[in-house]
Amino acid sequence: MKVDIEKFGRIAVITIDRPPVNALSQALRKLIEVRLDEAAGDEAVKGVVLACAGRTFVAGADIEELGEVRPPTLHAVIDKLEALGKPSVAALHGTALGGGLELALGCTFRVANRDARLGLPEVKLGLLPGAGGTVRTTYLIGAEATLKLAGSGNMMGVEAAQGIGLVDAVFDNDLVANAIRFLSDRIDADDIPPPVRHRREAMPACDPQALESLTAELCRKARSSAPELAAQSVRNALTLSFEDAMAEERRLFETATQSDRFGALRHLFFAERAAAKPSGDVAEAEPRAVQTVAVIGAGTMGSGIAMAFANSGFDVIVRETDEAALARGMERIADTYDRSVKRGSLSAEEAGRRKARIAGTVAIADLASADLIIEAAFEDMAVKKTIFAEIDAVARQGAILATNTSYLDVNAIARSTTRPADVLGLHFFSPANVMTLLEIVRGDQTAPDVLATALKLARRLGKQPVVVGVCHGFVGNRMLQARNADLSQLILEGAKPAQIDAAFRAFGWPMGPCQMQDLAGLDIGWRNRKALGETDALPDRLCELGRLGQKAGKGWYLYDDNHKPQPDPDVDAIIAEIAEIGGIARRAVTDAEIIDRTHGPMIAEGRRILDEGIAARSSDIDVVWAHGYGFPRDLGGPMYWDDHLRESAQEKKKV
Ligand code: CAA
Repeated sequence: MKVDIEKFGRIAVITIDRPPVNALSQALRKLIEVRLDEAAGDEAVKGVVLACAGRTFVAGADIEELGEVRPPTLHAVIDKLEALGKPSVAALHGTALGGGLELALGCTFRVANRDARLGLPEVKLGLLPGAGGTVRTTYLIGAEATLKLAGSGNMMGVEAAQGIGLVDAVFDNDLVANAIRFLSDRIDADDIPPPVRHRREAMPACDPQALESLTAELCRKARSSAPELAAQSVRNALTLSFEDAMAEERRLFETATQSDRFGALRHLFFAERAAAKPSGDVAEAEPRAVQTVAVIGAGTMGSGIAMAFANSGFDVIVRETDEAALARGMERIADTYDRSVKRGSLSAEEAGRRKARIAGTVAIADLASADLIIEAAFEDMAVKKTIFAEIDAVARQGAILATNTSYLDVNAIARSTTRPADVLGLHFFSPANVMTLLEIVRGDQTAPDVLATALKLARRLGKQPVVVGVCHGFVGNRMLQARNADLSQLILEGAKPAQIDAAFRAFGWPMGPCQMQDLAGLDIGWRNRKALGETDALPDRLCELGRLGQKAGKGWYLYDDNHKPQPDPDVDAIIAEIAEIGGIARRAVTDAEIIDRTHGPMIAEGRRILDEGIAARSSDIDVVWAHGYGFPRDLGGPMYWDDHLRESAQEKKKV
């Protein structure tokens, strides 16, 4: 770690260098402060460029140290920068995030590389910017634009940032040299605005009502009240003096760093990165090159996988068994892109480029050119084995062969080929072009470089990978089965489907298990039970009556034309009848019992998964649940919740 200072005529360039992302630790803040003092004390220096070495400008405060207050604070460093008595410019490349953007706001100007991105992502950690990010930004770009940035945590491109006045100039190359020239020109022209803290008067106007509805929308989208913190501080920026608004922002920030929510979200931040990182023999392996990907099966899953790859620039071949099925699959793909264009989330040109990357075929021989072949066919071992024997016959040497199975034994599938070392599971979640989770299933014989390739692919696809071992249902679906194992019994004892789903939503889930089963189709579980020779009287009866879920217009609920679920007295009658046959006494079931009897078994299954080595770390399980099943991020994942929050939540309820 170092911070250099170098003079180019009358301009001093201070360069921050702390790989990998120049995170502002206390030690780094100290070094920056020393260089600022040097620049301030040097008469010959008339202006300062603040730049970063490596892949990015400062990507924020050091998340490991958040919550500690050790001088110099970031506030103090930014104040010093603002009070230099000489104009300064931040030269932004890569990602200027959180404390990084706040540092840049301490400069008189901000210039950036064309591909740089800016953001205030603290809300994703349950925080708000803590060093003027809401106050100075509001002065500069207005309350609404600031809330959009700080309340969503999303990054913004520099052209948009320039449009709203957050960035003063954009360059295509030679950022530091251009920043020096930019500052010199401004000095020569005597065109130096006051520090941002003194630009309150020039603040763009804002409609308070628009601010309120934006806050509500941000909270709804995030399924969290965290955006309210930024909203509160933005309101303060409008109504309080600079000093008071800054003090309030700091107080809100410090309180938030002591919250359970921050602990949980910080845990997920590091958990996600740990899960994505190759370790052991995989870290040493060289990933194989992949550009052409073949997908076998053009159903919902196969077409989703094909789009996920096409969206990230891969060439894709989709293979179906007959022309009619292929045509249906290609149509599904085209429809999905067309809908995105209609919604405005994709340009027609980009949709065209993506569609053009996907070719269809019925000839298995056409898969010979693929670097990776993913089977997404019917969930049946015999079918899969036949397909893998076929692929084995045509795939080139060195191609990776993957199955998208949700439950089946990847080792058995691998053994149906002559090259089990090239086989692994790539378990995408539906819809595969949208959902971020990718369970990478390591078979007994999967080669380290095959796994290294899968992890690298996940990054290119923008997916969150988690490496898991072979077992029925891997991590996610195995725990889901455990979570739902007691569901029928709970209902027969007296918890209605609507009460169960409401208890889940109150916990923070996007939907409860009955709603989820209705959405997926109750026949999935029914078919599985039949295949295993098992029964579950209540859902079996619903299926026998044609209540297969939303697609049938009825399942646990009755659905209207807008797919809105309504409790159905017919279901209540079926429940009462089956309870009576089983001699089950009906009683009131509390929401707490619902959570205990579903989440308890799920977590116990997670512990078994860890004991068996199916997941490498407890935090990997949390990542699977946060990304694949909508476990509330604010609670950190099921294992974190059980280890850190469950008991204290119960205690709080008792009080
Ligand atoms: N603090 C500490 N470590 C950080 C960090 C941070 N702010 N940002 C990234 N890292 C670490 C990661 O943990 C990772 O470490 P390992 O290699 O040991 O796993 C390494 O840097 C690289 O990170 P990524 O793998 O995420 O790299 P990427 O290139 O995919 O993404 C990034 C880079 C966009 C900067 C991404 O890391 C990111 O979004 N970082 C977090 C940014 C953030 O939240 N900043 C706000 C911090 S809070 C704040 O600033 C409060 C305030 O107002 C004062």
